[in-house]
Amino acid sequence: MPTSTIALARRQDATLLAAMSRRLIETGLEHQWTESRIERARQHEDYVVLTARFGARLAGFAIMQYGDDAAHLNLLAVEPSYQRQGIGRQLMRWLEDTASTAGTFRIRLEVRASNQSGQAFYKAIGYQQSDWLRGYYQAHEDALRLERNLALIRSVGPTE
Ligand SMILES: CC(C)(COP(=O)(O)OP(=O)(O)OC[C@H]1O[C@@H](n2cnc3c(N)ncnc32)[C@H](O)[C@@H]1OP(=O)(O)O)[C@@H](O)C(=O)NCCC(=O)NCCS
Repeated sequence: MPTSTIALARRQDATLLAAMSRRLIETGLEHQWTESRIERARQHEDYVVLTARFGARLAGFAIMQYGDDAAHLNLLAVEPSYQRQGIGRQLMRWLEDTASTAGTFRIRLEVRASNQSGQAFYKAIGYQQSDWLRGYYQAHEDALRLERNLALIRSVGPTE
């Protein structure tokens, strides 16, 4: 199976990434990851906006904010026609490798309580629940907070 090309997002990607976020992640919620917000993140030194492409086709993307103690995954989505081909795992591995290279070993994220496939994905790649956040999504839906400690994983060996 061909592997996707992982690369930083370009200025012209912001429109498409905002549309993907609205369609695949923010379904039923007020749209907050607008084109201008994604473009601000793309230009901000604490954020990485990452894409996965097959040629000219954008198959997936992720946005992560890097802090001193932890990195926070803001968004992750893979187009339905490209799902279950390892792209989500590939994007997360790139982001995790970058975080640990920078000395940030704790990765945090939130996933909607109703998102069973998202939860199965994160569990498969080594994330564990650390909290339950009532009404986290615009007081409309609860979230599970998930974490992965990369220092711990590296000291005992990879799980993937
Ligand atoms: C969650 C998501 C990013 C996963 O991306 P993906 O590229 O399909 O995931 P991968 O192919 O890398 O999957 C890696 C492993 O995760 C698990 N997994 C992924 N999707 C799964 C699903 N729908 N059901 C159960 N397990 C799943 C599997 O163990 C899979 O390995 P396998 O295919 O060898 O069995 C993708 O389904 C998606 O974009 N969903 C909509 C948006 C979303 O929920 N984002 C996450 C919350 S913000």
